[in-house]
Amino acid sequence: MRKQIAAANWKMNLTYQQGEKLLDDILKAKHQLKDHQQVIFAVPFPYLIMANSVVANEKNFSVAAQNCYHKKSGAYTGEVAAEMLHSIGIRYCVIGHSERREYFSESNQDLADKLNLLLENGITPIFCCGEPLAIREAGTQNSYVEVQLKESLFHLGAEQVKGIIIAYEPIWAIGTGKTASSAQAQEMHAHLRKVLADQYGDAVANEVSILYGGSVKAANAAEIFGQPDVDGGLVGGASLLAEEFSTIIASLK
Ligand code: PGA
Repeated sequence: MRKQIAAANWKMNLTYQQGEKLLDDILKAKHQLKDHQQVIFAVPFPYLIMANSVVANEKNFSVAAQNCYHKKSGAYTGEVAAEMLHSIGIRYCVIGHSERREYFSESNQDLADKLNLLLENGITPIFCCGEPLAIREAGTQNSYVEVQLKESLFHLGAEQVKGIIIAYEPIWAIGTGKTASSAQAQEMHAHLRKVLADQYGDAVANEVSILYGGSVKAANAAEIFGQPDVDGGLVGGASLLAEEFSTIIASLK
């Protein structure tokens, strides 16, 4: 079975102390993850080392950065390089979140460069894609998201693509309380898998975990995760509440 993943995206929320307590409260629930299940906490940079040590002895719990810079190193004040993340033992990194694409003007080419740097450093990218409302209303979401994938991913070889996690997050569903229906999620996930299959073959496409993101919560996780091409979720708001996120973890296939 493909890896099924509950990824928490804390975004720019919580103090260090609140973050420590939240991790503690979630781990107290003693989730027994199966071999194919994974929980990932994408926390702010200053909390990475703490979070990594908190989950160190928990089976299939990991920590992710929420971003990295698209250059290797150098005079880029305030930025964080993939190599730095690797040097503190971080194994996952979210890239291309729609908030970064919008507020920090990240282009598909920047994301291609980030993918290369993460893979060179042995870090699994969690690559986000997704369409804005106007595109969904025009009915052109499939080709829109396909271009995001092609321009950022398709220079990679099959072995590299197998090691990537994709998160489909329709922008109109992020933080709005308006989730895509499970049928809409399944339709797009199946489309993305077909795009991967056309380029890399079925075997590769069937190995890539595709997460859904956008207003996932305890009440809808089981139904969304139950879709055949949905392999878990990238969760913002509901990941900040221990009980909510625990239920989401328990909803993984
Ligand atoms: P949300 O955010 O769950 O608060 O909608 C999801 C995300 O942006 O990753």
